[in-house]
Amino acid sequence: MAKMAGISRIRPWKKVKEERRKVCASEYGTVLLKLFLYKVPTAICLIVILVLWSSSTTILSGRFIHVCVSSRKLTDLYCLSAGSHPNFEIPIQHSHSDSQIWESETRSTTLPTKEHPNSISNNNSYIIKQIIEIPEASNSSESSMNEKTINDYYNSSKETTVKLGDEVGGGAIKMGSREEEDHREEIIAMKAIEEQLREQRSWINNNNNNNGAAECGGGRGIYVYELPAKFNKELVEQCGEMVPWMDFCKYFSNEGLGEQIPELGDGWYNTHQYALEPIFHSRVLKHPCRVYNQEEAKLFYVPYYGGLDILRWHFKNNVTNELKDSLGLELIQWLSAQKPWAQNSGKDHVFVLGKISWDFRRNANGNNNGYNSNNPSWGTKFLELHQLQNPIKLLIERQPWHQNDVGIPHPTFFHPHSDDDIFAWQWKAIRSQRKYLVGFAGGARPDSSENIRSLLIDHCTTTEDRRLCRHVNCTTGDCDRPKAVIELFLESEFCLQPPGDSPTRKSVFDSLISGCIPVFFDPFTAYYQYPWHLPEDHGKYSVMIDKKELKRSGENVVKKLEGISLEKREEMRSYIIYELMPGLVYGDSNNVIEKFQDAYHIAINNLLQRVSML
Ligand SMILES: *[C@@H]1O[C@H](CO)[C@@H](O)[C@H](O)[C@H]1NC(C)=O
Ligand SMILES: *[C@@H]1O[C@H](CO)[C@@H](O)[C@H](O)[C@H]1NC(C)=O
Ligand SMILES: *[C@@H]1O[C@H](CO)[C@@H](O)[C@H](O)[C@H]1NC(C)=O
Ligand SMILES: *[C@@H]1O[C@H](CO)[C@@H](O)[C@H](O)[C@H]1NC(C)=O
Ligand SMILES: *[C@@H]1O[C@H](CO)[C@@H](O)[C@H](O)[C@H]1NC(C)=O
Repeated sequence: MAKMAGISRIRPWKKVKEERRKVCASEYGTVLLKLFLYKVPTAICLIVILVLWSSSTTILSGRFIHVCVSSRKLTDLYCLSAGSHPNFEIPIQHSHSDSQIWESETRSTTLPTKEHPNSISNNNSYIIKQIIEIPEASNSSESSMNEKTINDYYNSSKETTVKLGDEVGGGAIKMGSREEEDHREEIIAMKAIEEQLREQRSWINNNNNNNGAAECGGGRGIYVYELPAKFNKELVEQCGEMVPWMDFCKYFSNEGLGEQIPELGDGWYNTHQYALEPIFHSRVLKHPCRVYNQEEAKLFYVPYYGGLDILRWHFKNNVTNELKDSLGLELIQWLSAQKPWAQNSGKDHVFVLGKISWDFRRNANGNNNGYNSNNPSWGTKFLELHQLQNPIKLLIERQPWHQNDVGIPHPTFFHPHSDDDIFAWQWKAIRSQRKYLVGFAGGARPDSSENIRSLLIDHCTTTEDRRLCRHVNCTTGDCDRPKAVIELFLESEFCLQPPGDSPTRKSVFDSLISGCIPVFFDPFTAYYQYPWHLPEDHGKYSVMIDKKELKRSGENVVKKLEGISLEKREEMRSYIIYELMPGLVYGDSNNVIEKFQDAYHIAINNLLQRVSML
């Protein structure tokens, strides 16, 4: 039962008693924050993130308060529906439970002053860390065992942290109803995400130059740390025991691309969704701007395979949190001895992590931000360490409220070597005969009745006309064969992409590169994730069907998609195949691609741009 999908089937969400609105550590802080939220118009949210980057590193002196906000609605990642939708109503349904524990981030911002409500005053900065939390009676005693070790590293990041402006502290502000509060909190949260994405988009390097060595002057040097092998190579060598039910090693052949799939053409490999770390690393080692002298470098790449580090513990019982965190902590120690690490407080350092952000954010109290339901000790604390706040983290799924988390595409099965590989695939994808209107490769989530997947499968399989919708049942392992999945995507006009265990899916990228228009049900699946690789205008490449709306209206998804005109479909598909596709794939490490920027190029160029702005 070796199943690739097996990993993604682990469901780590937390079921928590409904309606429990709880404050984590400091009720005082909560009240203050609520007051604050009421007082300050939502407009400040637009300002909030503007200064995030710079001020998140500024530790302000003064009064720090531990603030925890809890909200029945905000606790559910999937509850938030917004994005381009002006209505901020919250679908209560979602795949897991009404309430989850998770944690938002260290946010710093600037308040408008009293006199000039719309102006930004730099000296009213404060840092908010909202810990949006509905703690379950998490009484596992093991989870506290590890606290000690971590404390030294962790204290400063968990004790957060609002320094409230004077005007906030004193006000007696009338509290509204809970609904209003939730609503307001949600608006703030969504605006914060959008503002962050805007900020991240502002780092985009519009100079379309490819990786020509001529571009490496002017402080574009990239220094790649030579880490001890235990931080990367030796993790790969543990592939045999990484996942108990399968031999993971085949995924690490060809520098992490996996085994070739000649049936699909040149450049196709059986790439695992968690293989980004070695793939990216082997690329950056060959970057023309790589320098061997730290003094000449502008960007510092830390090739720690943090995702693989975690993965080897995920499916083993009996592993202490202490053990899981140990390698990450060792890395910090190692880095602390490096001169460049302190020079810019880590801001010019980048980590590429091939797993989702939540896996690195096990909560301080043992609850993993709600990400893991059955296993509060899921994952590590790596990204919660205060030392990790300044560096940029490129992840296949970002934590939506962390400015320095940047989402980059999941690796697909396609790794072109040359422009011709790309042209050939574009030709194939654009001409592919799409005999199905809708395709869905996915399994149901039977133990979470709220999950929209069952509904979609139902819509798909009950259409009378068999050509309208085709479902490939991932529960039976049918999705383990890349060829079967890619063929489905090549033969479908629309591909349903409901959230799975987490909001993002590798499948989104597999469908995009196949020219299958993704249908999203949640803005967190893509819109709030990939500011560098997907355009702000979602309508150019995707369809959004709000999941709450879908449930309420009872409308059939297939019918709904039938209503989209052929012209519109063609237009989107051309855009996806010609404009987006090359930028969504990672070329092989010896590639000679010249006419396109692939996903790696885009990421590296923007990183260089970002650090040049420091
Ligand atoms: C705060 O900002 C105001 C106006 O921007 C300025 O006059 C004042 O000196 C600042 N205070 C501090 C402590 O920086
Ligand atoms: C732990 O939780 C379970 C169920 O939630 C409860 O029955 C048990 O008494 C708790 N144990 C402690 C030590 O609180
Ligand atoms: C971290 O916090 C714990 C408890 O909150 C405390 O005992 C410990 O001394 C702190 N460590 C540091 C380095 O501040
Ligand atoms: C769990 O760990 C303990 C101590 O390290 C060990 O003695 C025991 O055999 C382990 N159990 C399993 C099932 O691995
Ligand atoms: C998918 O496969 C699972 C396991 O074989 C089965 O229980 C389920 O009914 C299948 N779903 C559909 C829609 O066929």
